[in-house]
Amino acid sequence: MNNEECNLKESMILAIETSCDETAAAVIQDGETILSNIVASQIDSHKRFGGVVPEIASRHHVESITQVVEEAMEKAEVSFEDLDAVAVTEGPGLVGALLIGVNAAKAIAYAHDLPLIPVHHIAGHIYAARLQERWEFPVLALVVSGGHTELILMKEEGEFEVIGETRDDAAGEAYDKVARTLNLPYPGGPELDKLAKQGSPVINLPIAWLENDSYDFSFSGLKSAVINKLHNAEQRGETIAPEDLAASFQQSVVTVLTEKTRKAAASYGVQQVVMAGGVAANTGLREAMKETFADSEITLTIPPLSLCTDNAAMIGAAAHIGWKTKTFAELHLNGIPGLALT
Ligand code: KG4
Ligand code: ZN
Repeated sequence: MNNEECNLKESMILAIETSCDETAAAVIQDGETILSNIVASQIDSHKRFGGVVPEIASRHHVESITQVVEEAMEKAEVSFEDLDAVAVTEGPGLVGALLIGVNAAKAIAYAHDLPLIPVHHIAGHIYAARLQERWEFPVLALVVSGGHTELILMKEEGEFEVIGETRDDAAGEAYDKVARTLNLPYPGGPELDKLAKQGSPVINLPIAWLENDSYDFSFSGLKSAVINKLHNAEQRGETIAPEDLAASFQQSVVTVLTEKTRKAAASYGVQQVVMAGGVAANTGLREAMKETFADSEITLTIPPLSLCTDNAAMIGAAAHIGWKTKTFAELHLNGIPGLALT
């Protein structure tokens, strides 16, 4: 088979994702068609601790992984003989959680003599948009999750250049911390999003534009400003409407994310902008991005909510690039908690 034929050959990939608190498996055809996408969420187990407890996450992954994989295979109506490869999130993430997925994938690859494709979690988040529509390069990805806030330029398939990143808290982290201060249940992001819809952005909060038109982000000052406003009001015996504080916080985050994305998209001459990561599920951000690119020649791709938060379909979509370039791992593949994207 020559390279061109190999590139054209269809792929049927079983993908596994266990980097944080979702045990997920999916079967993806040609990097763009979802045959199945199973996600077992552990949110209820972590809720009472107000955040993800790594040991509990690992234990749940061990308990669920076999069933989740079986369900993904059944729903897709494929057998292991129909598969071309097994893909798995190699990192970044919680080491104990990553290892469960990596070991499950290795066992399946070994037992069925299949190539093993390692996938970077953030590449997965970005490629979730590939399940929505085909891309025209260059592509700019706005990645906003619990651990990452990045603007990533892709001049071509599988090539990632970080042009801006957070200098402190990730957007999702800021959402979760502010939500906790407002006594909202875990995970705070979606709760704060709901509350913001009931309020108005009438409270003055800072926006960190940073020096020299940088594409970097900073959310810790904003997070502290919200916490200080609440504490100061409490000390003076005053009350601040939580829905207004939520709406003001959301406006501050959304303004800086959309404006920096708009500027970067124009200055790098991209054809397409894609949104990725859990915070891309935020209704305020989705609306603002749609408005920003409404009259633009640039195509904006926003994955459906279920593909924004952690799932394995996105890992299967990104793995198609590894399949085409034959980027396979050996069976001593390990989970790497701090794996770099480039
Ligand atoms: O991508 P993701 O599922 O996991 C990571 O890889 O981090 O992102 C999780 C993050 C959490 O911080 C969660 O609060 C946030 O995404 N999130 C949201 C919304 N839905 C999830 N943040 C704001 N608004 C939302 N609707
Ligand atoms: Zn994620």
